[in-house]
Amino acid sequence: MNRTKIAGIGHYVPERIVTNAELEVVMDTSDEWIIERTGIEERRFGERFKENTTILGAKAARKAIENAGIEAEEIDFIIFATLSPDYFFPGCGVLLQRELGITSTEIGALDVRNQCSGFVYGMSIADQFIKTGHYKNILLVGAEMHSMGLDFTTRGRNVSVIFGDGAGAVVLQPSREGESSEILTTHLHADGTYAEELAFINPGAHGGVHGNKDEMGYSENKWDPIFITQKMLDDGMTFPYMNGQLVFKTAVKKFPEVIMKALNTAGKKAEELKLVVPHQANLRISQFVQRMLRLRDDQVFSNIQKYGNTTAASIPIALSEAVQQGVVQRGDLVCLAAFGSGFTWGSVLLTW
Ligand code: ACO
Repeated sequence: MNRTKIAGIGHYVPERIVTNAELEVVMDTSDEWIIERTGIEERRFGERFKENTTILGAKAARKAIENAGIEAEEIDFIIFATLSPDYFFPGCGVLLQRELGITSTEIGALDVRNQCSGFVYGMSIADQFIKTGHYKNILLVGAEMHSMGLDFTTRGRNVSVIFGDGAGAVVLQPSREGESSEILTTHLHADGTYAEELAFINPGAHGGVHGNKDEMGYSENKWDPIFITQKMLDDGMTFPYMNGQLVFKTAVKKFPEVIMKALNTAGKKAEELKLVVPHQANLRISQFVQRMLRLRDDQVFSNIQKYGNTTAASIPIALSEAVQQGVVQRGDLVCLAAFGSGFTWGSVLLTW
């Protein structure tokens, strides 16, 4: 059985910095509120009509491919994790293939729709394919262009102040003989009981089955499409919904659980961790997790202050920055952990 290593990594964040002060102009919020509750000082927004999720993903992917020392044509499988895809279908995986100019049709392209834990899910999928020898150069991308679809009015403030745009990517390959770099464990979890507690529901093919039929403004004519209605647009139902307190409470339980599960499975201890790279959901969540696991400040990476929550992109952006800054060196024990919509959560323990 092969072992899987990260052979290349890269990230890209758009140039435009959006400060909390800029948000104060369009909604009733304050720099103080946002920093106190989330730790976020600024975020990046992509350039409208020039950038989209696939383009951000491609910019990160090119860096990861170069860092791995291979050509784009050598990629044999693409995994693209996002909650803000360019199209409802097809997924961003094939769009990325085109954007990177990969002409081989021997390649596979898969989209992962697991939101905040999309990158961790993607790592686990890639690990299985590499271990079994099915693929040799897997490109895994997490990218988001949230700014296209948020409600930048006071109505949407609890969600829209949190999110930012960006992308991160890794190339996964089999570890060579004698190399210590490898994925040690992956753990994935889900609890669909809470599916609507952090969700972007409309437009969609749910048909109001989950008790919200009367709110949706559906036509009486059975041949009219009900994917989206005028009422959804008029009533602002086409934006993400988040039960922030429930997400917070559940996240601070699940993050430590899934990190401990990874350590226990691999027979490692928290003090052996060089770095935990948590999904950058909220600085307060990361601080809570740090306290529960009794980790030092230097063992938990945070860059949410600069980028906000970039969902599927947050872990690879953070890991890429940690590597660039020399915080992580070859041979170090690193744990990636995520929690989010679904609810889904998971961890990856690896030797860098
Ligand atoms: N600016 C000012 N006031 C605000 C804002 C805002 N942006 N947003 C909400 N408020 C107000 C509310 O209206 C409420 O006012 P009220 O008391 O008059 O009713 C007050 O602030 C408190 O609101 P809460 O929602 O109770 O605030 P809370 O302390 O829970 O903080 C927050 C909200 C930051 C969203 C928090 O619940 C949180 O971080 N939850 C986790 C969210 C998260 O991590 N999501 C991402 C994970 S999943 C993913 O990445 C997709």
